[in-house]
Amino acid sequence: MKAVVYRAPYEVAVEDVEDPRIEEPRDAIIRITTTNICGSDLHPYEGREAMEPGTVLGHENMGIVEEIGPGVDRVKVGDRVSVPFNVACGSCRNCEEGFTSACLRANPSGQPGAGYGYPGMGPYRGGQAERMNVPWADFNLLELPAGEERESDFALLSDIFPTGYHGTELAGVAPGRTVAIFGAGPVGLMAAHSAMLRGAARVFVVDKEQDRLVLADEFGATPVDFTRTEPTGYILDATGGSGVDCGIDAVGFQARDATEREHPELALDRVIEVVRDTGRIGVVGVYVPRDPNSPEEPARAGRIPFEFGTAWHKGLSFGTGQCPVKRYNRHLRDLIVHDRAQPSKVVSHELPLERAPEAYQHFDKREDGWTKVLLHPAPAA
Ligand SMILES: NC(=O)c1ccc[n+]([C@@H]2O[C@H](COP(=O)([O-])OP(=O)(O)OC[C@H]3O[C@@H](n4cnc5c(N)ncnc54)[C@H](O)[C@@H]3O)[C@@H](O)[C@H]2O)c1
Ligand SMILES: [Zn+2]
Ligand SMILES: [Zn+2]
Repeated sequence: MKAVVYRAPYEVAVEDVEDPRIEEPRDAIIRITTTNICGSDLHPYEGREAMEPGTVLGHENMGIVEEIGPGVDRVKVGDRVSVPFNVACGSCRNCEEGFTSACLRANPSGQPGAGYGYPGMGPYRGGQAERMNVPWADFNLLELPAGEERESDFALLSDIFPTGYHGTELAGVAPGRTVAIFGAGPVGLMAAHSAMLRGAARVFVVDKEQDRLVLADEFGATPVDFTRTEPTGYILDATGGSGVDCGIDAVGFQARDATEREHPELALDRVIEVVRDTGRIGVVGVYVPRDPNSPEEPARAGRIPFEFGTAWHKGLSFGTGQCPVKRYNRHLRDLIVHDRAQPSKVVSHELPLERAPEAYQHFDKREDGWTKVLLHPAPAA
């Protein structure tokens, strides 16, 4: 079958790879209908997380169940399903407590947490391919309404809609609260959509990409272009000097300033500055334990100096980490089904799988209009 394979930094190719097979009784094979490119794929793409050449990429997947192992009894062949990016066993301590993002059994390296097509997340092939294997299928797969409706909305249930929502959960967004989100990439925009769904009174979204800020406005947020407006002063002024109740970092360790220079602490510092005393911060942007190619010396060893003293004095609370997708995806699916949520507003491109290499290039440069790319393998003959 065809799949998108990592070759080297800034180089992916569509190649023939072996078809997936049922390996364990609880596996299911999914025929992929839609698979997305994620901001997280860009960390290995840019050589900032070491990836084995030959890795099949793709952790944002959905499709149709094509085959099931003898131990699968809930999911049926022909079901339309969303595949959470976390691979989880469903029965370890962390899974039982709802932290499918920290499953203790799925990653043979012994590290908690596993995922598809990603370095350090176990041996699971990605879904930027015609087919993929899903372990513990009864536990992991989310059933979707049959048919082809709302495909581009449902495609966002495997990662970015739940991840944006997780940011609002970690930040304590509730009716009447004020919220500042750094990053208007797909994750930041999904956080803005989620904050509005949760009844926030006012949401600010900070970025420098015009096209993404326009989408923030469409989701009901106030866009702030940090190349024209100094965001801390602007948000403090707009909240009577006190700052917002809730802050979300949807940027991560590759934060840039207006001149495109990277500073790993930049988004954290800004979010700490704009959240009021005793407020909460959700950090869903990725940070890594080691970053050998960082332009900043301490970050190479995983140390990121940020305004922790200010955070402590303000009494801020932080939540971090990967999103446990299963905690939210069922409810977010139902918001889509009942027309209460329309996450697909962020989708800018729907392309055949063959065009993945050029899509990676455009999306990586955050070129105007390249907000979120969905790939479709050719329909089965
Ligand atoms: N926690 C999770 O489970 C999870 C899941 C998916 C993605 N992520 C991470 O979330 C982050 C965002 O993902 P994405 O898909 O939206 O990626 P993206 O790279 O497309 O978006 C990041 C956005 O941040 C903006 N930005 C850069 N520096 C900034 C700054 N100083 N201030 C404000 N904005 C700034 C960029 O212009 C860009 O629009 C990435 O780090 C990604 O790896 C985490
Ligand atoms: Zn993703
Ligand atoms: Zn588990």
